[in-house]
Amino acid sequence: MVGRKIWGGNGLGRKMVGRNIRGGRMGGGNMIRLFHIVIVVLAVAWWPLCVGAGDGRPTGILTALPEEMQVLSQHLKDKRTRTFLGVTFQTGKLQGRKVVLATSGIGKVNAAKTATLLLDRFHPREVIFSGVAGGLNPDLSPGDIVIGTRTAQHDFGKLTEREFEPQTPTPETPLFIEAPEALLRAADRVAARVKFDPILTTRGARTPRVIRGVIITGDVFVASPTKVAELRETFKADAVEMEGAAVALVCWQQRVPCMVIRSISDKADVGAWEDFERFIKMASDNSARFTLELLRVLAEQPVARH
Ligand code: ADE
Repeated sequence: MVGRKIWGGNGLGRKMVGRNIRGGRMGGGNMIRLFHIVIVVLAVAWWPLCVGAGDGRPTGILTALPEEMQVLSQHLKDKRTRTFLGVTFQTGKLQGRKVVLATSGIGKVNAAKTATLLLDRFHPREVIFSGVAGGLNPDLSPGDIVIGTRTAQHDFGKLTEREFEPQTPTPETPLFIEAPEALLRAADRVAARVKFDPILTTRGARTPRVIRGVIITGDVFVASPTKVAELRETFKADAVEMEGAAVALVCWQQRVPCMVIRSISDKADVGAWEDFERFIKMASDNSARFTLELLRVLAEQPVARH
């Protein structure tokens, strides 16, 4: 029996069309087969770049500042980096779970750009934002953690001589973006078991608290008691930062579960900048530790898309 030639005739006795690379004529059937093989090879080569190598979709973890990423990056195994439009993404494993990490830079524009690239290039199963925030709730102190039940942009709306009115919500741009209940439940489980270093204060050592709360986002660093009172009144918010709601909105619009975790670095008051510089490392590390434990819990209890 004569073996079938892979690159031979098309087996249908039709006239050959097209040219093979040696300059001979190539049949239409072979052209189609070649086309299919090229598609399969490209798909096999590109798919791992989209989802990260290995088993399923990664969890995306974003921070604004390098300090906020430090502990997460230190724990990352099988590290690889890829850069898109100037944003560097690190892929690998944290707590045995596939992750993709990126530091967005400060503010809503940088955050939305990074979130969009993350979703488009890596198709994460969920997105966690980890970092620091100014405390608006008077019960919060540096090092405490706020699990964001909902986020909103506090500087998006209508400003008149008399008042600021938050944006009018639409179905694709709600005022408050709710975190999915499954992620919040996972965060509650983390709260029950995470261990933080005690924080030394003038009144002795205290253990950081973890609360569920409202996190608001705007393109300003708040260091004003007047603004704190206004934000508390308008948004009933517990913490203020500069990226979370932008990432949450991008994820909401693409139906990707997203949750913001923030540790308090300052009280958004007149001493906010000094406190921020003093506590950023400790607060960043607390948020990162919480996020690491969250990944462990998520491995036990995966979250569905909403
Ligand atoms: N991130 C940390 N502290 C902040 C503050 N006071 N205002 C805005 N973003 C912050």
